[in-house]
Amino acid sequence: MPRLIEGKLVIATHNPGKLWEIATLLKPYGIDAVSAGDLGLPEPEETGLTFIANAELKALASAKGSGLPAIADDSGLCVDALDGAPGIYSARYAGESRDFAFAMQKLEKEIADRGATPPFHAHFVSAISLAWPDGKTLSFEGKVFGTLVFPPRGGLGFGYDPVFLPNGHDKTFGEMWAVEKHSIPVDGSEALSHRARAFQAFAKTCLE
Ligand code: IMP
Repeated sequence: MPRLIEGKLVIATHNPGKLWEIATLLKPYGIDAVSAGDLGLPEPEETGLTFIANAELKALASAKGSGLPAIADDSGLCVDALDGAPGIYSARYAGESRDFAFAMQKLEKEIADRGATPPFHAHFVSAISLAWPDGKTLSFEGKVFGTLVFPPRGGLGFGYDPVFLPNGHDKTFGEMWAVEKHSIPVDGSEALSHRARAFQAFAKTCLE
């Protein structure tokens, strides 16, 4: 059966970090990745109410704007004691200046205000959507479960990494190198991060 994706694919992001990460994951599959930013495509507002809805609207905007298949992701942290918040609002929770030291303090305070006691269960979610110019879409989700630790630990990674301790590990994401968190094991076993897990599901259906 032919692969779902061959040749050129638009990565629907203007974020250089995300672009690099997705382009690196796509490299072994011989995909010619080009970014929405490089094509001058506008970035739509994230008005969806789920991770998949937001990933889909970003992928669709790039696919329709370029005439090529496009891939987009949307992700965030869901905290049980906060009924799943900040969830799809994880970036916005860090304020206009995207200050994650402030966001992690705010999380600690809001969890304490709810009277919750440790362990503070939480999970990261990543949705990856693929869209075609005719409006067809395919979406995949990856999750990683763990607990939140305060104060934050480690200076690696980004966002909420220093407070997230994945289940079965003794280092937070902030204490792990990117390769440990985001790489796809060559033996076919499950990756660790939510994004790498969503990518594994996408690759299995669309690239293999
Ligand atoms: P978006 O996917 O660009 O909408 O942003 C999601 C937000 O969730 C990011 O700004 C981060 O704050 C947070 N986030 C998503 N994935 C991770 C991760 O792997 N580590 C730390 N924070 C993350």
